[in-house]
Amino acid sequence: MIYTIRPWAVRDVKEVMRLIREAAAFHKALDQVKTTPEDFVKDGFEKDATFGCVVAEVPPEAKSKEGHTLIGYQFHYLTYCTWDGPILFGEDLYVAPDFRGKGVGTSLLNKAAKIALEKGCSQFRFISTKWNQPALDFFTKRGAVNVTACDHWELCHYEGEHVRKLAEYMRK
Ligand SMILES: CC(C)(COP(=O)(O)OP(=O)(O)OC[C@H]1O[C@@H](n2cnc3c(N)ncnc32)[C@H](O)[C@@H]1OP(=O)(O)O)[C@@H](O)C(=O)NCCC(=O)NCCS
Repeated sequence: MIYTIRPWAVRDVKEVMRLIREAAAFHKALDQVKTTPEDFVKDGFEKDATFGCVVAEVPPEAKSKEGHTLIGYQFHYLTYCTWDGPILFGEDLYVAPDFRGKGVGTSLLNKAAKIALEKGCSQFRFISTKWNQPALDFFTKRGAVNVTACDHWELCHYEGEHVRKLAEYMRK
């Protein structure tokens, strides 16, 4: 199958949003998507972008049944580890169901690894849900180490009210 892997452009934003919603539905979390195409244009193109996205595109003659030519994406941003220095964090990796098993996911991952090296990163980090065994197999087969299983790290975050409360305590 012929396809291209390239950085996203403003013209892709609506289609990437469609794929993000597909990926969220796959993760049973569509109701948690709060971002809009306008957010991506503003945050990704109109000011110094802190994140990047690469897309997989097929030629018009190979478009999906629904008429789409963008068939996959991978989001990433630079972060910093006090132990390892710069790290590229992969936020999403997604390929539309009809185009899976043809090497597109691997190509998107290859491109993310290339970007990580270009930015001087020693790691490409990402999270995957525990129930998504096919994805865990996909990543492990390509050399990923499950640090939750090996080192017992737990991923945590504060959100909404708790962030506000923490910030409030700072002022007192
Ligand atoms: C994980 C994912 C990105 C892989 O993309 P992909 O384009 O299918 O990847 P590839 O074709 O490069 O490799 C897929 C592997 O599954 C095999 N495969 C065969 N048929 C397949 C099919 N119909 N669907 C999926 N995988 C298939 C491939 O042979 C390959 O095997 P390998 O790991 O032994 O090489 C894709 O399945 C996906 O988007 N899944 C849903 C979202 C997800 O789980 N994302 C990752 C966690 S955030």
